[in-house]
Amino acid sequence: MVLDDSREIARVDTGGMVSLVQRLGPMVAEGWEAAATLRAPSGPLAAVVVCGMGGSGIGGDLLGSLLAESSPVPVLTVKADRLPAFVGRDTLVFVCSYSGNTEETLAAYDAAHHAGASIVAVTSGGTLAQRARERGDPVVTIPPGCQPRAALPYLLMPMLRVTAGVGIARISEADVKEAATLLTDLAGQWGPAARLADNPAKGLAVALRDAMPVIYAASPNMEPVAQRWKTQFNESSKILALWNTFPELTHNDVVGWERVADGPALHVVVLRDQDDGARNSLRVEAASHLAFRGARGVTEVQSVGTSRLARAFSLIMLGDFVSCYLAVLRGVDPTTVAMIDRIKERLQLS
Ligand code: F6R
Repeated sequence: MVLDDSREIARVDTGGMVSLVQRLGPMVAEGWEAAATLRAPSGPLAAVVVCGMGGSGIGGDLLGSLLAESSPVPVLTVKADRLPAFVGRDTLVFVCSYSGNTEETLAAYDAAHHAGASIVAVTSGGTLAQRARERGDPVVTIPPGCQPRAALPYLLMPMLRVTAGVGIARISEADVKEAATLLTDLAGQWGPAARLADNPAKGLAVALRDAMPVIYAASPNMEPVAQRWKTQFNESSKILALWNTFPELTHNDVVGWERVADGPALHVVVLRDQDDGARNSLRVEAASHLAFRGARGVTEVQSVGTSRLARAFSLIMLGDFVSCYLAVLRGVDPTTVAMIDRIKERLQLS
């Protein structure tokens, strides 16, 4: 089997995406450290806004989800070149762009600057780093050299540290340590050296080989994680995928399942978490029984760990591995995103 042949994985994964997924644990700790000396914004805050696109924007979705239970102010992610009208002096704006050169994010940054917001830039360099230094805005500089989506902990963890510093996030050093240790352990269980027969990440990639993945978070807790799975299938496996969240999907998606026999083969992956709640568990059971009957398969995967941070990252790591293994099965390099690059180049010329 291809997935148990490390030379075959290395032959297809020329950009080394699998080894970056294996490093998610250390990256969580490094990302937290990256903001250790950052000057936290002072003064009362009415809102937190994260500006970022794609692999740099999903960190904002995760931040909002992780802060939902503790934050006294709204946390919003903006994936666009403009900001909502409420952004002003009492808004903390994180401007996240791994490359530092994404057009929409730079435009949103300029809008935040003009609105007088408190700004923190998170980037590996580019125009964003340069512009932020010229304007005197704090910059968290993260290591360059990989794909933005592979750098997720570097983008998320500094924002968590800054929001913890201003009393918005409830996250401890112990949570960070737990997530880093857990991910290192899971990298052994799900990594390329663990054989298919004992490796659920490889098993799920095989199950998804000829079907479109439909990723459903069993509750809003893991909503951005479901979106992350979907975008990793897009960018790493080079396939289309769908995602949604319980309970919302029981008010729309389920109707779309009535006639799926007419369309492509679909495989549902349900992301489960200990805090899904009894009612959502019943909804998952009802939808699996009544609606997903036309699916090629339904697989439930469970988060592991204690803190919300560790649990979210456990499912992120699983999805990252699955998307890479599926890429290997399809013979495509998980790293390259030629279509994103081509569209950015074309826009630069116009
Ligand atoms: C590529 C990726 C993309 C980029 C997006 C924005 O791996 O994940 O979705 O994140 O094109 O680019 P950056 O992150 O450099 O602002």
